Amino acid sequence: MKEIALMVGVLALSVVLGTGLCLANVPAPPVDQNIGFWDKTFNNMSETDCRGCHGDNLVGLHHQLITTKGLLCTSCHKLDCSTGTCQFASFRDCFQCHSQVAGQASVHHLGQAAQDGDCASCHGDLVQNRTDGHYIPTYNATMVTPRPSDGTGVNGKGACDYCHSWGNDFGTGNLVYANKETHHNTGLGQDSSKCTWCHDSQAGTGLKIRACEQCHAPQSMHNIQVDTNNDGKIVPGGELPYQGHIGNNEDCLGCHGGAADQISIGGGNGGWSLFNPTRHHLLVQKNGKKCLDCHTLYRNDQGIFVFKDFRTCSTCHRNGGRRP
Ligand code: HEC
Ligand code: HEC
Ligand code: HEC
Ligand code: HEC
Ligand code: HEC
Ligand code: HEC
Ligand code: HEC
Ligand code: HEC
Ligand code: HEC
Ligand code: HEC
Repeated sequence: MKEIALMVGVLALSVVLGTGLCLANVPAPPVDQNIGFWDKTFNNMSETDCRGCHGDNLVGLHHQLITTKGLLCTSCHKLDCSTGTCQFASFRDCFQCHSQVAGQASVHHLGQAAQDGDCASCHGDLVQNRTDGHYIPTYNATMVTPRPSDGTGVNGKGACDYCHSWGNDFGTGNLVYANKETHHNTGLGQDSSKCTWCHDSQAGTGLKIRACEQCHAPQSMHNIQVDTNNDGKIVPGGELPYQGHIGNNEDCLGCHGGAADQISIGGGNGGWSLFNPTRHHLLVQKNGKKCLDCHTLYRNDQGIFVFKDFRTCSTCHRNGGRRP
């Protein structure tokens, strides 16, 4: 994915310092564009756009297919004799041979890999494939369960669109498109056989996010982060806010909201009847606890951030005591 680095410049961190920091009631800034593709639609491209990413000289790339895929010159270069004299049909314009459906579907997502659901083959580990058997939680919705949109926290905290889906990028001034547009305009959102790839119409409001987790499951979600101070390592909770998903407690809250009016979802009527996660999560509001005070993220053998066990009381409450 080397193209990516060329597409987007690194934004000055001073922009971030000027916004939102320490101010709990200020909305998140429009999401930066340092990682992944620009959050927009790409189904109205011209040959120039294609060459913007793929380069000016695509002769070698195509001609190597003679060896690797056994193609013939005439597989690509057609003689056009319609005018009486024969000449080669245009072979520079990408759309002679590759197709997009203008305004609806992009070249890349009409290709076999995308149609097969193999998003990771081009998007890398920013996403997980639907069919790779990855972990998606099955427990009930609680007061910290993220939502795709309409977060119930302050300013809409607790949902993807709290950060993504709105505003103009501070670095370039370009518009950040809404999640519905970026996803539907690949073309996948036009295909009625693929709605369930991203939506579960049966799921209640609190559990809509689980369909998104077919590609955005905890493992990929908690591994997207910019190294904000360029010290060569990512410290969960120790980076500037709004530069990824795990750098700062504000980032956790952006998705996990923690709105008081969701306590009822967590279960129990208070006191000892409280459902155990709720008991602990109430301490976020009550005692100003941060998510990472209890949930430890560490890199596993594959270098992937995972959570230390948070189910066994004795992981945190030593000697069986109430105080950890
Ligand atoms: C934003 C950058 C970008 C733009 C713009 C872009 N491409 Fe691509 N394209 C990629 C990346 C990244 C891949 C992934 C494969 C690779 O190059 O390693 C890819 C892959 C492809 C493939 C291989 C598809 C497959 O299924 O393996 C084709 C064909 C292609 N692009 C054609 C085009 C055409 C035609 C256009 C213009 C309509 C275009 N691309 C515009 C970045 C881009
Ligand atoms: C997979 C499709 C494909 C095949 C097979 C193919 N070509 Fe091409 N060829 C292209 C494309 C696409 C371009 C234009 C690339 C560009 O403009 O960046 C091109 C460009 C050319 C050019 C112009 C070179 C230049 O420097 O601009 C010549 C000459 C050519 N091809 C001859 C051939 C011959 C001879 C064969 C068989 C040995 C062949 N091609 C096979 C796709 C193909
Ligand atoms: C004359 C026909 C033709 C034109 C014009 C053409 N391509 Fe292709 N291209 C092909 C064919 C055929 C393939 C092989 C498709 C396959 O393997 O299924 C291909 C494959 C590719 C691939 C994947 C290469 C790989 O290693 O698998 C990319 C990327 C690509 N084209 C980009 C472009 C871009 C960008 C343009 C315009 C600048 C363009 N093509 C113009 C015929 C063409
Ligand atoms: C052949 C490579 C390729 C495959 C496979 C692929 N994509 Fe993409 N995707 C791209 C490229 C290149 C872009 C940017 C240009 C474009 O949209 O054509 C992109 C852009 C996107 C965007 C919009 C950009 C953004 O940041 O929001 C979404 C959403 C997206 N892809 C979803 C998917 C999904 C879902 C799948 C799997 C079902 C998938 N892609 C498979 C290459 C690919
Ligand atoms: C607290 C703000 C915030 C929230 C809430 C948030 N994100 Fe992000 N996300 C970011 C930032 C910042 C980046 C990195 C942007 C950059 O520099 O490219 C990012 C990057 C991503 C990327 C990598 C691709 C890209 O375009 O940058 C994906 C995929 C992603 N987020 C998915 C999600 C999903 C799914 C949700 C909801 C479950 C969500 N995000 C909620 C801030 C947030
Ligand atoms: C590649 C993923 C993807 C596919 C496939 C897809 N959508 Fe969506 N859709 C999204 C995203 C992301 C949103 C934004 C969700 C939000 O912000 O709540 C959305 C939003 C929507 C919304 C409005 C918000 C909501 O959730 O009610 C509707 C309605 C919708 N999609 C219907 C469809 C239909 C019908 C199909 C099949 C024809 C489809 N989608 C296919 C990703 C997808
Ligand atoms: C079939 C796989 C798939 C599903 C399911 C899916 N997405 Fe995505 N999503 C992607 C891909 C691929 C990208 C582009 C990552 C990149 O920039 O390279 C993306 C990017 C994002 C981003 C980052 C912003 C952007 O546009 O790049 C957000 C936010 C997001 N998705 C939200 C959602 C929501 C909400 C849902 C459920 C309604 C959902 N996604 C379902 C594949 C999926
Ligand atoms: C981009 C959105 C996003 C951000 C930011 C985020 N998470 Fe998550 N997290 C999720 C999603 C989605 C799930 C799955 C929730 C579900 O399905 O119930 C999850 C699940 C979890 C889980 C349960 C994992 C399991 O094994 O079931 C913990 C613990 C967690 N997150 C803690 C955190 C902490 C701590 C932070 C900040 C460092 C954080 N999250 C930041 C999206 C996010
Ligand atoms: C005071 C400690 C503490 C804090 C602070 C805390 N958690 Fe938890 N969390 C726990 C414990 C303990 C569990 C598991 C309880 C059980 O299974 O008995 C848990 C469970 C979870 C789960 C799984 C939910 C379920 O129903 O099983 C998620 C998701 C989660 N935490 C996310 C977060 C996020 C995000 C934050 C910050 C808003 C946070 N936690 C803050 C202690 C804490
Ligand atoms: C991931 C770490 C973690 C795990 C696992 C954990 N706890 Fe806790 N627990 C804490 C922390 C931190 C506090 C808050 C201590 C403080 O007030 O400073 C706490 C507080 C409590 C409290 C007091 C709540 C209050 O309102 O003050 C009870 C009761 C409790 N835990 C019971 C349990 C039980 C029972 C389990 C196992 C089922 C458990 N905890 C698992 C971290 C954890």
